Amino acid sequence: MSAEPRRARLRAPAKINLGLKVLGRRPDSYHELRTVFQTISLADTLEIGFTPGRSTAIEVSSSIEIPGGNLVERAAALVLDTAKVSGRVSMQLTKRIPMGAGLGGGSSDAAAVLLALPVLAGRRLSIETLLGMGACLGSDVPFFLLGGAAVALSRGTELYPLPDARAAAGLVVAPAIHVSTPEAYRAMAAPELTSAPVQNIISSFQSFVWRQVGAADPASGENDFESVVFVQHPQLRALKRRLLTLGARPAMLSGSGSALFGLFASREEARRALPAFGGQRVFLISVVNRARYRGLWWRALGAHIAGKVWPPQSRYA
Ligand code: C5P
Repeated sequence: MSAEPRRARLRAPAKINLGLKVLGRRPDSYHELRTVFQTISLADTLEIGFTPGRSTAIEVSSSIEIPGGNLVERAAALVLDTAKVSGRVSMQLTKRIPMGAGLGGGSSDAAAVLLALPVLAGRRLSIETLLGMGACLGSDVPFFLLGGAAVALSRGTELYPLPDARAAAGLVVAPAIHVSTPEAYRAMAAPELTSAPVQNIISSFQSFVWRQVGAADPASGENDFESVVFVQHPQLRALKRRLLTLGARPAMLSGSGSALFGLFASREEARRALPAFGGQRVFLISVVNRARYRGLWWRALGAHIAGKVWPPQSRYA
């Protein structure tokens, strides 16, 4: 056993939801979803080190305090437990993805641990095992084990990859408004907001997903959370209108918000729209397709992996 830690520096990208339908409450009290997730270039950085040893210790430091506890710590404990391995894990997290904004930052950080720690610890976990661990940590975590664009059903944990779309650029606007996801779901489930027949909801989502594949113009989905979140925070509706006026297609709330995104025809157009959001936290982003997502991982894990396979496989196993 070596005393030298095995280290990697990872980028954990954010996600946007290109469309999101909430069908209703499930017996497990989660909500049944239909959504299309898409990874984007805005990313946190996670430096992770693993030193094999008889006892286990997990150390985490973060550039910003994370309310409610850091999911990377739970993810690391779950990996060590599932892989039946002991040792010291040290993690330094640099947060760039706004928190509580519907951009999946915490989920992506946790998925980064699920992908990297088994590699550093010399264990091979199947994709089924990783997906199960991801779903234990949070509804958005499994998506980050896949990346690119994907249709999600169920709690958001049943995933079907979509083919890589053409490159797109955009803006993410993240106002300093915190939206509580459980409260947004509860508000959505109120009877007066679920009057649309479920069959119509499903067929509109189906045609939206079909248009994602090979359509000439970008398909514009809808996010059901807008109907409740925009009522509570009218300034978010105004920001969406501003994105649309500036030429973004689509422009939408991401997840339950409060971040909004707009995709533009070119990076130049997105850049030109930037000054219109002075005073807001705004990010110029590009869409990260699955090929690029996996490339990021293979580069980050470099010397620790055996070939370019997915999920990344440890060369120490
Ligand atoms: O799974 P996660 O911990 O990210 O979910 C946070 C909260 O969001 C859940 O406790 C639940 O209230 C709500 N949720 C939901 N239906 C989903 C996903 C999340 O009701 N599909």
